[in-house]
Amino acid sequence: MDDTAQTATARPQDVRVWDPLLRLTHWSFPILIPAMWWTAENSKWALHRQIGLVLLGILTFRVLWGFLGPKTARFSQFVKGPGAVMAYLRGDGSVGPPIGHSPLGGWSTVALIGVMLLQVSLGLFAGDPYDGMTGPLNPLVGVLTADTITEIHEAFFNVVAALIVLHLAAITYYAVKGNDLVSPMVGGERPPMEGVEGIGPMPWGRGLVAVALAAGFALWIANGAPPLT
Ligand code: HEM
Repeated sequence: MDDTAQTATARPQDVRVWDPLLRLTHWSFPILIPAMWWTAENSKWALHRQIGLVLLGILTFRVLWGFLGPKTARFSQFVKGPGAVMAYLRGDGSVGPPIGHSPLGGWSTVALIGVMLLQVSLGLFAGDPYDGMTGPLNPLVGVLTADTITEIHEAFFNVVAALIVLHLAAITYYAVKGNDLVSPMVGGERPPMEGVEGIGPMPWGRGLVAVALAAGFALWIANGAPPLT
């Protein structure tokens, strides 16, 4: 074996942290959430409804991926009890998984996905059938209920925005402390870590199943959730 080959074998490998579908899902948010805000501010309701349904599909996919995806995507890896969160906050680095979300990051993930799902779900019922665009499930509720839901939908955007600001502040805090979380979320990998294995090859078959189920669900909702029989 020559020197070059030896160096190539000995060189530690970058660790794969996030799979391509999770990253694609993630980067769709900073594009689609501002687009939802802009379309609402400018009364582009048809576009607002269409993008909202795309977001519903993406969020449904992310929930399914929390059960079918690689280990770092799974809720079972990153949703931890209060004990683990408190230990993490006290600086005990051993409580979380070596790669993926920390116990605190796990809850921030649940909160972000949860508020986005709630906001999209409220939008499905929102609007006034006698005055402009409505969500696809609006006919399932009365006009007065839809009115109240519309008001909550509008106000709740502030909660979504506040959590996003907190999310960006946390990422910046870690960056300042020298912990670059952004590069792995872009390229999927982080620098080598002693004794830590990455997520392995992408499970494309399960990815296809999750994408198909999520798209089917979003299309069914887009059509007003008709009876399946
Ligand atoms: C609308 C804006 C955004 C939303 C709603 C959002 C939401 C999320 C969610 C839900 C996760 C968890 C990923 C998962 O397990 O699926 C996450 C993780 C992450 N986000 Fe964002 N994000 C936004 C913008 C950004 C931006 C602009 C950046 C970078 C500058 C960023 C950087 C990250 C990083 C680095 C992680 C991984 C954190 C970790 O290692 O635990 N996000 N984000």
